[in-house]
Amino acid sequence: MDDLRAKVEEIRREFKSLIEEVGDLDALERIRIRFIGKKGEVTELFKVLRTLPPEMKREAGKLLNQLKNEVETSIARKKDELERLARRAAYDLSLPGRRHRLGHKHPLTLIVEELNEIAKGLGFEILTESPEIEWDYYNFEALNIPAHHPARDMWSTLFITDKMLLRTHTSPVQIRVMEKRTPPLKVFFPGRVYRLDPFDQTHAPAFYQAEGLYINRNVSFAELKGTLELFVKELFGPSAKLKFVPSYFPFTEPSAEVAVYYNGEWLEILGCGMVHPKVFEAVGYDPEFWTGYAFGLGPDRIAMIKYGIDDIRLFYENDLRFLKEF
Ligand code: PHE
Repeated sequence: MDDLRAKVEEIRREFKSLIEEVGDLDALERIRIRFIGKKGEVTELFKVLRTLPPEMKREAGKLLNQLKNEVETSIARKKDELERLARRAAYDLSLPGRRHRLGHKHPLTLIVEELNEIAKGLGFEILTESPEIEWDYYNFEALNIPAHHPARDMWSTLFITDKMLLRTHTSPVQIRVMEKRTPPLKVFFPGRVYRLDPFDQTHAPAFYQAEGLYINRNVSFAELKGTLELFVKELFGPSAKLKFVPSYFPFTEPSAEVAVYYNGEWLEILGCGMVHPKVFEAVGYDPEFWTGYAFGLGPDRIAMIKYGIDDIRLFYENDLRFLKEF
């Protein structure tokens, strides 16, 4: 009996030192087999039990069962622990979270949104959507620019078919709005436009415009001038220097351009004028009764001035080093 007790103690010590150090599930399985497998050290001891005289069996049995229980519980606990560690290695919940990088708005989007806000403040309704593929009729004809007229040279056009093109300005939206509504109306529509232009420091084949149209009775040129002065000062600050220069557009009469003084030179940022009677005729408004003004702004130019950028291509190359500046 003392022999058995000593043997149990020895196995227990050996088992304890091994189980403490085991680092992976495979090694743990080897320990399990070594001690409580079919031919394990503890299992073998139970075979000895059978050979003992009955008066010793009871005590010896208790001793062995206790050892076996101890071994089983330790192995189960260790298995749990090792499995948990393995899971944690795959998903380390203690690591700091990965930050989502939020994008931000493109500088031109920022300008267009600012223009919309200013226009809203001046009482314009904002139209956010309009077709970029347009009929010749809306882009030219209805705006008093007949086919083969030299005025077409002002817009280097990308034709899709004889009658369909990529709009060269946002002015066709004037026609679309007036065809659908009856005055008075006061609308503002930003959008992308296209021209067969080289891609250089000051030109891009696709760029932005934002256009305002106001139709009512007795609209005056003074009103247009006042509105644009407010607009430009809201945009560049009250000390901004601007000038009106007489100009020509087939769909406005009289027409003007507004330039802003920037970096030692005058930069043209918009075209404007009183809506031409021919345009009213095209949409079925009586030109003797209705009057109105229109103006078209260049968000790209405005962004260049506001942000001090000297190359329009930067807006379209989508170089993150540039875009992150805003
Ligand atoms: N559509 C003209 C252009 O692209 C700008 C403009 C708009 C002029 C409205 C007058 C009135 O150059």
